[in-house]
Amino acid sequence: MEFDLAQFQQELEKRKQYIDRCLQKYLTPSDAYPPIVHEAMHYAIFNGGKRLRPIMVLEGATLAGGNQESTVPVACALEMIHSYSLVHDDLPAMDDDDLRRGKPTCHIVFGEANAILTGDALLTGAFAVMTESVGMVGVKPDNLIRVIREIAEAAGSQGMIGGQVIDLQSEGQDIDYETLKTLHSLKTGKLFQAALRSGGILNDMNEQGLQSIDEYARNFGLAFQITDDILDVNGNEEVTGKHAGSDAKNAKTTYPGLFGLEKSRQLAEECVKACIASLQEFGPEADFLRQLAYFTLERQN
Ligand code: IPE
Ligand code: IPE
Ligand code: MG
Ligand code: MG
Ligand code: MG
Repeated sequence: MEFDLAQFQQELEKRKQYIDRCLQKYLTPSDAYPPIVHEAMHYAIFNGGKRLRPIMVLEGATLAGGNQESTVPVACALEMIHSYSLVHDDLPAMDDDDLRRGKPTCHIVFGEANAILTGDALLTGAFAVMTESVGMVGVKPDNLIRVIREIAEAAGSQGMIGGQVIDLQSEGQDIDYETLKTLHSLKTGKLFQAALRSGGILNDMNEQGLQSIDEYARNFGLAFQITDDILDVNGNEEVTGKHAGSDAKNAKTTYPGLFGLEKSRQLAEECVKACIASLQEFGPEADFLRQLAYFTLERQN
């Protein structure tokens, strides 16, 4: 398969714009009462996120040979959960960052208490948005309930939150490779797994197919967090929209910290190879995901 970076970026941009339009539809208007929390929710969402998790939901639907449209509410909900995780991740009690997606972080603009509440509102609101798919073409209640449960688990104490807890506990500690891998898999991998699987489950994908895409997303999440750690060392702030050096400032254990940049890149490449291998049973309908995996190695933000 050919990989044309410029062409792929155009494809990605198209999908991102589609998700942005859908998010506008499902988010409570920014002037709804009480305005501060709704303004802050819009601020945290509409600020140039790459929308990779919602895009994965739509891809899951495509691989299942199904319909993308009825997965849009779940796709938007995943972006709300992801964006909430970033608002909280940036708080002074966590990574204490003041720049996100190229703008001052939510707590800098709206204050710490409002940022906490904004994250809470995005998380709980996400579950309400998921139910918007009830009654859409092809959406079966049993499938939707399974999706809701899987997303809740992926975002929770044995998923993303679990990973964030290990991340914070590990600050300033010498942690081993297995622990680092677990923490990356939980804090970043789990949401990608839930995203891709959701699109599949909503479209009746069989268990073997789900296992394959789960394997893809697990490796993708790992590659993605390794490159995030690399960009924290050598990324251009204008492009990443985040301050470089945040991990060093917080004494995080990272891939570059443990292995150096060169070896970290190699490990990310191995994950990408595993992503490609996991899609063997799929044809050209999986080309976008194959390219997305390669893209992760090239990404600058
Ligand atoms: C940043 O995620 C946090 C990680 C899990 C590495 P993204 O790099 O997907 O952030 P946005 O949504 O594009 O801003
Ligand atoms: C955060 O990882 C992952 C989340 C679950 C939010 P990081 O702390 O490395 O993410 P950035 O670099 O701040 O985006
Ligand atoms: Mg963090
Ligand atoms: Mg952070
Ligand atoms: Mg980071």
